[in-house]
Amino acid sequence: MVEILIPEAEIHARVAELGRQIEADYQGKPLTIVAILTGSLILLADLIRTIQIPLRVALIQASSYKGATTTAGVLIINESFAPDVSGRDVLLLDDILDTGHTLATLVRRMADRGALSVRTAVLLQKVGRQEVKIEPDYRGFTIPDKFVVGYGLDYDDDYRHLPYVGVLNLEP
Ligand code: XMP
Repeated sequence: MVEILIPEAEIHARVAELGRQIEADYQGKPLTIVAILTGSLILLADLIRTIQIPLRVALIQASSYKGATTTAGVLIINESFAPDVSGRDVLLLDDILDTGHTLATLVRRMADRGALSVRTAVLLQKVGRQEVKIEPDYRGFTIPDKFVVGYGLDYDDDYRHLPYVGVLNLEP
């Protein structure tokens, strides 16, 4: 059962606000939004359509959760869809900031690949879970330490299509 935590309309309103901030901050800059697959797919599609300045889109796949809800595995990064970011202002986009390992690792990776600047944007940040010191530059919502699905977030590759963010209750 999925209990709605953030309704669809609230997500859309907040994503539009983030888009306006990003648009203002990156005027005249060579912006590349690097979305971290698969969870940020829906966020990417909604966010970029609210931004009316030139931008490029790149994709990186990072996975650490293998279907389980709590234990993170080794971070596997696949950069085959990420074009050259050297000389670009990179905005890394992820669905959720949990322990912080994924974003912290990818920030270093983008800097190593010659990005002019690297900032981060997340739809959600879980409270009380961070193991790595990283503050997202753009954050949609802060949420309690619950496993969430929907709006791109999955459990065992399911539930990504839900238009809202919900808490997954696996009890029968
Ligand atoms: P870290 O711990 O590196 O994790 O900040 C970020 C990645 O972990 C996944 N994650 C979740 N996925 N519901 C999900 O569907 C959750 O509640 C959740 N918490 C963490 C997610 O892939 C994210 O990119």
